Amino acid sequence: MTQEEKLLIVHGQLGRTILKTRPDEWRNGAGFVPGVARLGIPELFETDASLGVVNAKNRRKGDVATAMPSTLATAASFDTALAYRGGAMIGAEARAKGYNVMLAGGANLVRDPWAGRNFEYFSEDVLLTGAMAGSAIAGVQSNRIVSTLKHYVLNAQETGRTVMNATIDEGALRDSDLLAFRIALEVGQPGSVMCGYNKVNGDYNCESRHLLTDVLKNDWGYSGWVMSDWGAVHSTVKSANAGLDQESGEELDAQPYFAAPLAEAVRSGKVAQQRLDDMVLRILRSLIATGVLDDPAPSTPQSIDYAANSVVALEAAEKGIVLLRNRDNMLPLAAGARRILVVGGHADKGVLSGGGSSQVRSAAGPDLEIPLPTENPLSAFTGISYHPSSPLDEIRKLAPDAQVSFMDGADPQAAADAARSADFVVVFAHQWRSEALDLDTLALPDGQDELIAGVAAANPDTAVVLETGGAVEMPWLGDVGAVLAAWYPGQRGGEAIARVLFGLANPSGRLPISFPASMSDAPRPAPPGLNMVNEARERAKKSGIMDPAGIANAVPSFDVPYAEGADVGYRWYARESRQPLFPFGFGLSYTSFEYQALRIERAEKPIAHVTVTNAGARSGTDVVQIYANVALQGGAILPRLVGFGRVDLAAGESKSISIPLDLRLMASFDAASGQWSTPDGPVEVTVSRDAMTPIMKTRLHL
Ligand code: BGC
Repeated sequence: MTQEEKLLIVHGQLGRTILKTRPDEWRNGAGFVPGVARLGIPELFETDASLGVVNAKNRRKGDVATAMPSTLATAASFDTALAYRGGAMIGAEARAKGYNVMLAGGANLVRDPWAGRNFEYFSEDVLLTGAMAGSAIAGVQSNRIVSTLKHYVLNAQETGRTVMNATIDEGALRDSDLLAFRIALEVGQPGSVMCGYNKVNGDYNCESRHLLTDVLKNDWGYSGWVMSDWGAVHSTVKSANAGLDQESGEELDAQPYFAAPLAEAVRSGKVAQQRLDDMVLRILRSLIATGVLDDPAPSTPQSIDYAANSVVALEAAEKGIVLLRNRDNMLPLAAGARRILVVGGHADKGVLSGGGSSQVRSAAGPDLEIPLPTENPLSAFTGISYHPSSPLDEIRKLAPDAQVSFMDGADPQAAADAARSADFVVVFAHQWRSEALDLDTLALPDGQDELIAGVAAANPDTAVVLETGGAVEMPWLGDVGAVLAAWYPGQRGGEAIARVLFGLANPSGRLPISFPASMSDAPRPAPPGLNMVNEARERAKKSGIMDPAGIANAVPSFDVPYAEGADVGYRWYARESRQPLFPFGFGLSYTSFEYQALRIERAEKPIAHVTVTNAGARSGTDVVQIYANVALQGGAILPRLVGFGRVDLAAGESKSISIPLDLRLMASFDAASGQWSTPDGPVEVTVSRDAMTPIMKTRLHL
């Protein structure tokens, strides 16, 4: 390659920029990187991502894609094969649309229950996140295209996301977020890793030599390339020497750092020629390893069987639904119910989805779009959108003899009055989240708590279906009959919800995150920096700065200490003795499961064996969860998920299942020596209902 050719492929543009020179180019997604035709090096067409192929702002007029449920929903299935199938479906659609790089694989740990992008991430747990993210990535890449793993690392909040400095003890970071990324890397072998916006311990992620070179490339032996997030580069020499291999969406950075400035830095020796060669080698290696080079994606769109593809969206929605409460087996709803009242949540129209760069225009038909008010800083970027899968219509289909009526919930008194004469009430509750915005409360918005309380007081046979991007508070919990967490259930969500309500599907999801009893129980009871960010934005606007990048730049950097360290999620609540409303791993079924004969086989990798029995009268699926009680970084001994597996059981059936345990999850990284240390004595291992409910225990000698 000539020097010019090398320099060409280490920086990319916004996808839409290509329209200036190729107005008919269809593949105008999130990003574009030129190719080298002479050498058969393909142009890179990059698109978002994890929930389906995104068509931001409808720039590809009318183009749609199969919309999976939110990542949290898929994660709630604890089903790695399903994560793979979802990734494979999304990747196939991306390929058919001509894309060869998917900006998928969001694997940040959910550390804060109020964070805006939680719905795009898998969980608060290292193993679940790593295993599911890795499987999804492998699925995407089975289409001979590249997937990223993102946003490396500790990109845990949206408030001041481009300026905030995450501070955390090195060992704790290795034991938590970094271990999740490492597992995802091993399982998924992503062609690229995307460095996130924020700083960690003083350095921007995309210019952290420690994180990019020492940890990712040297310690872990990663041979793919590091691309930046869009607008996450702040320097040429520092970033290049730290290990950044490619600048993305360069128009969003203050300068196109990896264009002319990089050429100059190499010329003057500030960046070694070998470093540039290494960047190029890493990009080309991944294009070869994934098959992009040998088997190029088509340059014109191919036809897609959306009906066939939506089957995996339905499966994920169904398997991801978590039954949180079921007083006196109120659910499944009796098929013979005569009068069913459905309230709220736009259930007559569809199901909610999350906002931002992951938002998919659904193949199921036009979405219900509620624009944000123009004074909202996010209004140019995203809106509130419902996929057209109406739970009301689906309930009517499954209860053809019942009188099913709908009220939008705007008048709580009228809803309560109507509830009195219904056999059952189903209230749909929504909580919208988006990229670039954290929540300042975990209470349901728009007076929905009052609506639910009023309806439940009028009729205790009320089921609440939550369409949320994560945890919510439930002050009415003890007064309602049943609660389902349906997350953002994707383009066949209405169907999945109705099937679970009527027992055509037996709920098998387990919470991938803890729901705290209240926001104040969380490690950070409110988004750090929120007031400061809002004030800085106001000041910027007053001085006439209107563009989003300018407004973001007006916000000064601030520290966010992660004092919980590696004790993320359930480990934090256990450590602080704060009983969550529902812990990680929690989820009921229409049947019940019992465990016998837990034992551990001490092979090179220990294997837990346990017999699971379906003790109820219906077939169902259990998620067997194995925890080890371990201290991390010399802290308290607390449970940690070390293995899991799904098992389908007919009524009365027993099966013995074997779950390999990952020893790294029982070890702790000693930053001073750079070594992992395992506990001296035996480790207590449990099979547990959820993170806080052990059923049987045994010991493992390490
Ligand atoms: C997001 C990434 C996304 C990129 C390209 C960024 O704002 O953080 O997740 O892949 O935009 O759309």
